[in-house]
Amino acid sequence: MCGIIGYIGGKKSTDILVDGLRRLEYRGYDSCGVALIDPGQALYLKRVSGRVDALDKLIASDPIKKSAAGIGHTRWATHGVPSEDNAHPHTDCSGQVVVVHNGIIENYLELKEKLEKAGHRFKSETDTEAAVHLVEEKIKALNATGRSGDGDQLEPVFFEAVRRAAAELKGSFAMAVIWAKCPNMILAARQHSPLVIGLGNGENFVASDVSAFLKHTKRTVFMNDGELAVVKKDSVGYFTFQGKKAEHDPVTIQWDSTMAEKGGYKHFMLKEIHEQPGSVENTLRGRLLPLKGDVLQREINLPSELIKSVKGVQIIACGTAYHAGLVGRYVFENFGLQTSVDFASEFSDRARMVGADVLTIAVSQSGETADTIYAVREAKASGSKILAITNTLGSTLTREADFVLYTHCGPEIGVASTKAFIGQIAAMYVLAIHFAVMRGTIFDADARTYANELLKIPRLIEDALEGEKAIARVADRVSGSEHFLFIARHINFPIALEGALKIKEISYVHAEGYAAGEMKHGPIAIIYKNMPVLAVATTSSVLDLVAGNIEEAKARGAEVIAIVDEDSRKRIKASQYIVVPKTLEILSPLLTVVPLQLFAYFVALAKKCDIDKPRNLAKSVTVR
Ligand code: M6R
Repeated sequence: MCGIIGYIGGKKSTDILVDGLRRLEYRGYDSCGVALIDPGQALYLKRVSGRVDALDKLIASDPIKKSAAGIGHTRWATHGVPSEDNAHPHTDCSGQVVVVHNGIIENYLELKEKLEKAGHRFKSETDTEAAVHLVEEKIKALNATGRSGDGDQLEPVFFEAVRRAAAELKGSFAMAVIWAKCPNMILAARQHSPLVIGLGNGENFVASDVSAFLKHTKRTVFMNDGELAVVKKDSVGYFTFQGKKAEHDPVTIQWDSTMAEKGGYKHFMLKEIHEQPGSVENTLRGRLLPLKGDVLQREINLPSELIKSVKGVQIIACGTAYHAGLVGRYVFENFGLQTSVDFASEFSDRARMVGADVLTIAVSQSGETADTIYAVREAKASGSKILAITNTLGSTLTREADFVLYTHCGPEIGVASTKAFIGQIAAMYVLAIHFAVMRGTIFDADARTYANELLKIPRLIEDALEGEKAIARVADRVSGSEHFLFIARHINFPIALEGALKIKEISYVHAEGYAAGEMKHGPIAIIYKNMPVLAVATTSSVLDLVAGNIEEAKARGAEVIAIVDEDSRKRIKASQYIVVPKTLEILSPLLTVVPLQLFAYFVALAKKCDIDKPRNLAKSVTVR
């Protein structure tokens, strides 16, 4: 849940580190810091409780003259409150070994006790500090601290100390380590937390995510678990924690750095909402053959025997991705394939219910969500094959899965997931149609209709986005409400959940998504005069029932804002209408979610919330 970066090269390191940290802030933003080694082997360390802007100011007030290597960190607190003392980088007792870390060191208490007995003094409440003292202890054991000589002679000692320490740490970590006595190298270790290397010309990078260095290079190596990288200005070497050499072929990232910038929008979230037509296009591209009514196997590569033989599908995911999974269930079951959906964090007990005859689909934008990755391991252990639907090349999930379907939505920076969600749903349609064709549970003509209608969706999302100003007015008017209710039925029920999640996470108000038919079984009691109730009421097989539920809410004083299409509008009586284009009922979530995302955005804007970096959250939840 934190972002780490390292840089070694001829440019001004603080600028590169600070810029990289800004791009990683979506991973956590309660405190941050940098550490650099100057040519005289002195350490330059700056940390703040707060955002990267504050760190930037601190650095500007006392700049380092020149620097060789540096590391930086932006934090989402797990162990220890957000404070300057707990901010990374952390130093050892000598003040010469420095670590930044993302993840959780599970055996830190045990290590801390041992290290304190050996005389180490801890200065923070973090688990990370155990790692830096452990490296110091290993250096001592190698009898090197007192040795003089130039940095190059000590490099093997530094490497060996970090290697031994990494092998002793339990839990998850992506770490970058520097030692003032070795100013020409950064050591980076990965175990269950993302870590990538950026290969430049006469400069190299270490980071949690490629967005941190894309401006400088697109050549990337995705490290494996249990590996260590020796990063120098002109070379990078890879080793296992056992000290064996490892090989990597760099890949060239197709994203460019401007894709991770705001491009004139006030917030990433708004930009990403507007990118959704392109997101759906990218997810569908090359995968649909509407003329034949089939779906290409390219990139999916699921064996046809598996597709034909599975008795069911198990979807696991968290948060917004879980809601995409719920839409997926309706779609798969529409084509006759039984599907279960579970929160990855609640999957443990259900893992034994899957086996070789069930395909597990793990959905995750980042591909790094710890709960999802653990659930995948449990499903695998039960004999199920894993298909990952993800947006992130080289992510941990892609390595754990047997098959991967990329959504190709481009980097999503706003903490509130929008374009990734729409890409995940689009991927569900591609898969479900493909399965139905292969399993013979759909007529060719119907498959063709679905494929053709899906291909129209990007243009229809553009039309839905044209309602932005009207949505902003409604949102602004009701933004003072303390409670919001979202209701829908059938395939739009997950969209009600998603609408409520969006507003909760960026506006900090209470919101509930409910199955419209369930309201009268209890929750209708919460409705009070003028409470905003957003109801998805587009043309569907359940429209009459939804219309009835809207009447029930109105009778209790609710102010109903209905998401309708031109046809359904005539059958619904609401205080406000938000009109979306009409499509097939089964595809409607791709359109109905758009106004709810905009609604949440404008409520948060009216409340002056920090939309892209909501309190208490981080984009990528890499702890369980
Ligand atoms: O990266 P993932 O898709 O696995 O993330 C899962 C959730 O943490 C994520 O969707 C979260 O709920 C979003 N912040 C919601 O907008």
